[in-house]
Amino acid sequence: MAETAPLVRCDRSGDVARITIANPPVNALSHAVRSGILAAVEAADADPEAVAIVLRCDGRTFVAGADITEFDRPAVEPVLSTVLAAIDACRKPVVAAIHGTALGGGLELALACHWRVAVAGARVGLPEVKLGIIPGGGGTQRLPRAVGVEKALEMITTGEMIGAAEAKEAGIIDAIVDGDLDDAAVAFARARAADGARPRLRDREDRIAGARGQDAPFAAARAAMARRARGRQAPEYAIRAVQAAVERPFDDGIALERELCTELKASAQSRAQRHVFFAEREAAKVPGIGRDTPVARIERAAVIGAGTMGGGIAMSLAAAGIPVVLVETGQEALDRGLATIRRNWEATARRGGLGGATVDERMARIRPSLALADIADADLVIEAVFEDTGIKKTVFAEMDRHARPGAILATNTSTLDVDDIATATARPESVVGLHFFSPANIMKLLEIVRGRATSPSVVATSLAVAKRIGKVPVVVGVCDGFVGNRMLRARGRQAERLVMEGALPQQVDRVLYDFGFPMGPYAMGDLAGLDIGWRIRREKGLVSPVADRLCEMGRFGQKTGAGWYRYEAASRSPIPDPAVEAIILEEAARAGIARRAIDDGEILDRLLLPMVNEGARILEEGIALRPGDIDIVWVHGYGWPVQEGGPMHWADARGLGAIRDRLLELQHQHGDDFRPAALIERLAAEGKGFRDLPRP
Ligand code: COA
Repeated sequence: MAETAPLVRCDRSGDVARITIANPPVNALSHAVRSGILAAVEAADADPEAVAIVLRCDGRTFVAGADITEFDRPAVEPVLSTVLAAIDACRKPVVAAIHGTALGGGLELALACHWRVAVAGARVGLPEVKLGIIPGGGGTQRLPRAVGVEKALEMITTGEMIGAAEAKEAGIIDAIVDGDLDDAAVAFARARAADGARPRLRDREDRIAGARGQDAPFAAARAAMARRARGRQAPEYAIRAVQAAVERPFDDGIALERELCTELKASAQSRAQRHVFFAEREAAKVPGIGRDTPVARIERAAVIGAGTMGGGIAMSLAAAGIPVVLVETGQEALDRGLATIRRNWEATARRGGLGGATVDERMARIRPSLALADIADADLVIEAVFEDTGIKKTVFAEMDRHARPGAILATNTSTLDVDDIATATARPESVVGLHFFSPANIMKLLEIVRGRATSPSVVATSLAVAKRIGKVPVVVGVCDGFVGNRMLRARGRQAERLVMEGALPQQVDRVLYDFGFPMGPYAMGDLAGLDIGWRIRREKGLVSPVADRLCEMGRFGQKTGAGWYRYEAASRSPIPDPAVEAIILEEAARAGIARRAIDDGEILDRLLLPMVNEGARILEEGIALRPGDIDIVWVHGYGWPVQEGGPMHWADARGLGAIRDRLLELQHQHGDDFRPAALIERLAAEGKGFRDLPRP
């Protein structure tokens, strides 16, 4: 039998001991790795031939954190803090040699070493809050001692990484290495052994002493988090732990950090956030698409339509370094589209968000054109014209004529039949839906709509493009509205009924806001514009009594200063409008509805349960591959609060038995919109959840 390579090994480079962690892909600190490091540190400390120790990693990165898959089980010794205490106690200088990303437990490991050297491309961070926890290996105690309270609060409460140069400036990294990291780290360690310096962060007080007794930095962090991470527990716990670093002795701070971290690990929020972390990665894996599926090179792209969506899509591509031809039919629309793009990037630049690039550099990657023939050398063409099958098919016929053989022909439709659109071409295997979400340069979700004929290579290439432009892809099948908009419609139907039956838009919106959505359906409608839905309803002969009347009055939402709410000049804050309430009362009376007070609990259930139900049908039909994919669509495309894990996770957390019972109750009161999907009936009867469904 082949021997498995040890996850941690120890050798020597002259008089310097080298401890190497080799646990691919990201050198996570599993139990075996922690045990290995502990044994290696003790052995190296006792080795009479070694004067110093270098801690390094094989593979693409330094340790990227604790092993998240172990979080569901009780912690087993040696826990990370035991390992770090051994490093603290080591009599020889220990140097961390960092490449790739030192994240979470990885950065904590490095902070427990006496010195840290890194390559220029390395990045470090404590991303635990993103998983609903806080650092549990001393990060909240050692980082403030290295960088001061304000920087530590910023890093720990946001979880964002910083680059090596910034980390050096801040006091995390002692030296940035130009040449070979291993050689440099060994030389550095030898020099430290010679001068005898072995500083421990636990002993340092200089950077935190000034904050003792001060409340201001903590209050500022709390205020920032109230905006950025509304409803999430972990950032508040992180602030408390950092405050303890300032106010209490090191070991007391460590104890509190451990206690808070343990509590959070078991919390519903952290379970939800961990679910999202893994679901995001699982979504990128599609049955039938493997390493051997050819991925085409995308060197040039074209976007047809310079409206809000087309412009945003062009920005996403250009920002990732892909040159784009942006095609419009008229000069005026093209100029308007380009001006909007420039304005958006200028705003980003003012916030320092262009990562060193200038607006002009970005703009130079977008070549405006009035001729569809200019898509000829693009490897990927994305159509973002008016949402109408006829128009889209005409455009696709043109795309087919001009695009080079092998190019991907994508539609940004949000609801239409991709298979039907593909019939306008002689190459349906090259046609795919790439459904971006507005604003397309910001929202992370990309629904990749796989048509009947879409080739595996086109799906694989779309997944690769998504990753390259920083989107989170979810592959879905063809149906009206795909995953996101189809479920949104189920929610919208209830939102409308609730308002007719007795609620007001502001109450419906508040319930969803309190749940954690950035806004409710009415504020969202005003933001998106009510005229689009109105036009579609008229085409289809549908009626929405209140919304139709608002549109007839020219109340199209924010852009006209009034919609479901009214807006004061230059403000986007919705103000409840008695005129709207009057219309609602009239329309309810006209429909013979006796309005009643509706409590928040009923509103929430009536909005969310139909979504879960529709999600179950989407799974039954195979439109989504897994429940986690649906969750990712909602978290990244529609603002479902990440600490609630997405609609399917939320339903699992409540228990599908309880969900089924509540659906039956609502069906009895409000009709067949609430008839439980067969999948929910079956799983509930078996005492299972969506999470128990077999993986594709
Ligand atoms: N524990 C367990 N598994 C982990 C992990 C961790 N801390 N970090 C990453 N992985 C796994 C991923 O699930 C993925 O597994 P898969 O290939 O089976 O899907 C694999 O490692 C590669 O990760 P991926 O995110 O796809 O690679 P990447 O190169 O895009 O990003 C990181 C690498 C390290 C930046 C990213 O994985 C990350 O942010 N990890 C979490 C870091 C973290 O939060 N650490 C603190 C934990 S307390």
